[in-house]
Amino acid sequence: GAPDTRTPTGAETGVPKIAKGQQGAYLTTANGARLRDTDHSLKAGPRGPVLLQDHHLREKIMHFDHERIPERVVHARGAGAHGVFVANGAAEEVTRAGFLKKGRETPVFVRFSTVLGSRGSADTVRDTRGFATKFYTDEGTFDLVGNNMPVFFIQDAIKFPDIIHAGKPHPDREIPQAQSAHDTFWDFVSLHTEAQHHTIWNMSDRGIPRSYRTMEGFGVHTFRLVNEAGATVLVKFHWKPKLGVHSLEWEEAQLINGIDPDFHRRDLYDAIEAGAYPEWELGIQVFPDTPEETFAGIDLLDPTKIVPEELAPVQPIGRLTLNRTPRNFFAETEQVAFHVGHLPPGIDVTNDPLLQGRLFSYLDTQLTRLGGPNFTQIPINRPHADVNDMLRDGFHQQAVHAGVAPYRPNSLDGGNPFPAGDREHAFVDVPVTVAEAPKVRAAPASFDDHYSQVRLFWASMSPVEKEHIVRAYTFELGKCYHQAIKERQLQSLANIDPVLCEQVATGLGLPAPQPTVPLAEVQPSPALSQVGREWPAD
Ligand code: HEM
Repeated sequence: GAPDTRTPTGAETGVPKIAKGQQGAYLTTANGARLRDTDHSLKAGPRGPVLLQDHHLREKIMHFDHERIPERVVHARGAGAHGVFVANGAAEEVTRAGFLKKGRETPVFVRFSTVLGSRGSADTVRDTRGFATKFYTDEGTFDLVGNNMPVFFIQDAIKFPDIIHAGKPHPDREIPQAQSAHDTFWDFVSLHTEAQHHTIWNMSDRGIPRSYRTMEGFGVHTFRLVNEAGATVLVKFHWKPKLGVHSLEWEEAQLINGIDPDFHRRDLYDAIEAGAYPEWELGIQVFPDTPEETFAGIDLLDPTKIVPEELAPVQPIGRLTLNRTPRNFFAETEQVAFHVGHLPPGIDVTNDPLLQGRLFSYLDTQLTRLGGPNFTQIPINRPHADVNDMLRDGFHQQAVHAGVAPYRPNSLDGGNPFPAGDREHAFVDVPVTVAEAPKVRAAPASFDDHYSQVRLFWASMSPVEKEHIVRAYTFELGKCYHQAIKERQLQSLANIDPVLCEQVATGLGLPAPQPTVPLAEVQPSPALSQVGREWPAD
């Protein structure tokens, strides 16, 4: 039959896939020479030494020796699936992104992950989960690189290496795999108290999801949408799972880690193979794009803050269905490269200093992880939009570029024009005004409030959820060797809630300190405590 020329995502490339798997009539070398034997080295007699001239032996072992690529520096452990996103049109008013127009279907690839464990670590550890989605839109790829928690540990990307150094295993003993049960983690989050909000989400049941299929996802940062008329709004992205939000019990998670460390990976694969396709509603919280970039007094550029759904409801804009498992883990799940800067026309970034740093980090890390600058040519990363760039050569170049003039304008290859009539499909950076301000290493004063939303989260929990949170803090802090670190974290708990602090302190056999910040009253947010919440009505 005709050679298969499609990528794993179904994109037509015109380039035949050379990999037959094991299905061909005969084996060949990488250069296509047929082999007679792949089980015996070429030797000087059956009992003699192996001959260096055996090309097949050298090639086979050389290639095997280089099968591994570096694992991701974070989110190393993950599982992916293909699917489709269907827009319901509700976002048409606020964005010109074509894939969000009513009825549009866009192929997607999603990778779920833990953050801190290595590639071979267990699935059901207490950790944040990655929820990264690649939308192969016909206007260019859109990557929504989110997590299953709506806030992040730090407010400025410059601290990312620090929080990850603190969360990863100790440099001397290379333990533990589970993120939070160790001194350096608690040292960091008790010294950088903006991390307390993300940390309480980790200590809640959200830290041990039952399945990838029962997780919410969040874009975390505030993004800016721009519509056909050039009008803008600020938004936060949310994924709501059809199956509701469900978690494991701590004891279940522990047992599963031993019995089936691949529990989440298996569950995702088995569900899709059985036709039980997981679904999520994509929704947005929409805020006016004011110069202050705040909503209800909440700083929208602070990634340690949420906007409660009671204040800004999540409006569904489309549905994601995962309906196909990868054929090859390495080629798809391992080689996929997400990037928060992959944006189609109609979606733009904001000045959130965490987001700004991420815009540099992903490209940079993938340069090493995927061996050079041409990783957009790897099948899983190829866009479903026409590509006409002026990027040339480099390691692992697969394209054979025609023409002689990769610059513009030129008078040899048609000039590489920007056709005037096509500007409507082009990306436009929103011309937001950048205030004239002194160059400083500083954060806005609003970033200093590290406790009010942590208190909101705690106040929103049901009694059984609170009990789980107390047990989680007690267990994780109990693993610390340094009493001063436990005491410093208890101080943070006192600043969140006296009962929480008292109960964890009792469990640790330590005195409960007094709060050092005023404990303002908060109104619980029912949406925060939503284990088992139902699929939003159509
Ligand atoms: C990977 C989410 C902050 C650097 C990832 C992945 C996710 C993610 C989901 C896994 C992607 C995959 O499956 O391949 C987030 C979220 C953040 C955040 C939601 C905050 C809101 C940061 C920051 C940095 C960073 C601040 C650096 C300054 C990285 C790197 C990778 C990664 C280097 C590995 C990428 C690769 O090797 O392909 N992140 N991240 N992240 N993230 Fe983040």
